[in-house]
Amino acid sequence: MRKIRKREHVENYLRTTYRGDTLLGDVFLEHNALPDLCLDDIDTKTTFLGKTVDYPIIINAMTGGTDFSREINRELSLIAKTFNIPMAVGSQTIALCENEECKDSFRVVRENIGENGIVIANLNAQASLDDVSNALEMIDADAIQLHLNPAHEVVMLEGDRDFRGILNNIENLAKNTSKPIIIKEVGFGISNEVAKRLYNAGIKYIDVSGAGGTNFIEIENMRYNSIDLSDIYGWGIPTALSIIESRRVSKDLFLIASGGIRNSMDIVKALALGGDMVGISGEILSYLLHGGYNNAKSYLENTIYKIKILMLLLGKRNIEELKNTDYRLTGKLRKLVKDS
Ligand SMILES: Cc1cc2nc3c(=O)[nH]c(=O)nc-3n(C[C@H](O)[C@H](O)[C@H](O)COP(=O)(O)O)c2cc1C
Repeated sequence: MRKIRKREHVENYLRTTYRGDTLLGDVFLEHNALPDLCLDDIDTKTTFLGKTVDYPIIINAMTGGTDFSREINRELSLIAKTFNIPMAVGSQTIALCENEECKDSFRVVRENIGENGIVIANLNAQASLDDVSNALEMIDADAIQLHLNPAHEVVMLEGDRDFRGILNNIENLAKNTSKPIIIKEVGFGISNEVAKRLYNAGIKYIDVSGAGGTNFIEIENMRYNSIDLSDIYGWGIPTALSIIESRRVSKDLFLIASGGIRNSMDIVKALALGGDMVGISGEILSYLLHGGYNNAKSYLENTIYKIKILMLLLGKRNIEELKNTDYRLTGKLRKLVKDS
């Protein structure tokens, strides 16, 4: 059942037509006509989980557990290796009780990335301590993402209906897990209130995964004819708002800005708003499945080139400076940001 669902998620993702709004379009960054910089000197390196990465981009959690997803993980991890960027695997729940072949569809990521690169495990936030250690060990992970996905579960016919006690579980895991824990959404965003509760529970890494990109309500809706969920496709906290509101909780939070990140402008704006890194899932998957490995690789290559162009035009020499870019908010985003 889980294997079929995994494949359907990927296939249905490609067929989605609803286009949400991250509200990153409501962020204005000022052009600098006097950048005292040379394009070749722009430094995009940053530090994540104690290792240096060449770009502040994560290939974010998607898949694993089947032959089909093994191939996706194999190709994405070769790309991650080429660019020296981190990659997160999809939920490993499927592999915890399965055979070695199933586990190999996740292990291929560590094999390709090598011990110096960053590989991130993934489970849901209801996982037990044993599950978390097994998932980390399976791929010799540098950290584990635990996803919060109530909107996804509740629209899935076979999904969870009971979300009690998750914060207590997270607090317990944070105290007893040897590797860093990243709490992430899956495309509906983290609010200021939720980020605060997570921070107070001992969480130092949050991936906001806001609305405006992959939409699991639509993806699930394609699996059934019994109900029309299209009136709630717009649910969720747009990524731009989620970054701003989560960043307000603390400067010490390491924030991964994800959800609808598609291009260089999205990345630069997400970092200016308060992200430390960005995560990309759906967009790179589309390039991979529509045009293969070379297509996905040149998408990333061109995106990185344009990030450097934008950094030059902002007069920012490195990622630390980019994160300190002043921004102005317009339109809907300006109205939605709460007065501090
Ligand atoms: C096909 C597919 C499968 C996914 N599976 C997982 C998963 O297993 N675990 C998880 O935490 N997030 C999963 N996600 C969510 C992504 O990690 C990300 O949070 C979300 O897609 C928003 O980013 P995007 O708009 O760049 O796709 C999946 C996304 C896609 C497209």
